[in-house]
Amino acid sequence: MEYKADIGVFGGSGFYSLEDGVQEIELETPYGKPSDKISLIEVAGKKVAFLPRHGKNHQYPPHLIPYRANLYAMKMLGVKKIIGPTASGSLKPEIKPGDFVVCDQFVDRTWGRKDTFFEGPEVKHISAAKPYCEYLRKIAIESAKELGITVHEKGTVVVIQGPRFSTTAESRWFSSMGWDVINMTQYPEVILAKELGICYVNISLITDYDAGLEGRDDIKPVTEEEVYRVFRENNDKVKKLIYRMIEKIDVNYVCEE
Ligand code: ADE
Repeated sequence: MEYKADIGVFGGSGFYSLEDGVQEIELETPYGKPSDKISLIEVAGKKVAFLPRHGKNHQYPPHLIPYRANLYAMKMLGVKKIIGPTASGSLKPEIKPGDFVVCDQFVDRTWGRKDTFFEGPEVKHISAAKPYCEYLRKIAIESAKELGITVHEKGTVVVIQGPRFSTTAESRWFSSMGWDVINMTQYPEVILAKELGICYVNISLITDYDAGLEGRDDIKPVTEEEVYRVFRENNDKVKKLIYRMIEKIDVNYVCEE
């Protein structure tokens, strides 16, 4: 039997399954195995493939996630649109833990990750000017508003190598640049999707204030426990948002870029 899906969803830190007791498949790609088995479910008559990007037991740290295999597996299933939720830190006081940011830009501070499918003989230079899909961003914003979720309609995510969090100096630098949120996995996930012609949207669930907030001694630098706790507390909101988005997505809609 040939497996197919219309929409892909990547789970992040603290988000390892969309539904229990569903069909799971193992795929092998030219780039190796994806992070874990892929769950196939049906939502609103659409076929959805779910893959936890760190693996179900969080066995892959951000810099060792098999990003190319994960994206290629989605391509093999025929996925045309991907929803990529992530836990992210905030770099601005007005972006608060529990808020959502639908990012429209990224700044890459990672290194050494396999971040292209074009290693020859086929060589292609894709535009990264608008890395995120505007059609899916609009649906994410609309859906969040309908659900009463506090949503920031755009934002620049700075992607750090990890697995450590940032120093206070790094964090101050990032916020002084005007960047909004920070995480460890948006690069190269979004750009590999683009290379494969798959539309991609990020939903950043804010879990913390990164290295703290200046002038606020009560807000301490982020810890791993805090990220998991806040994500767990908001897991339902993330899932509801994803389901609402899936209902609204026209899988046949052809995006411009
Ligand atoms: N993921 C969640 N919070 C983060 C932070 N402050 N820095 C990097 N990645 C994160």
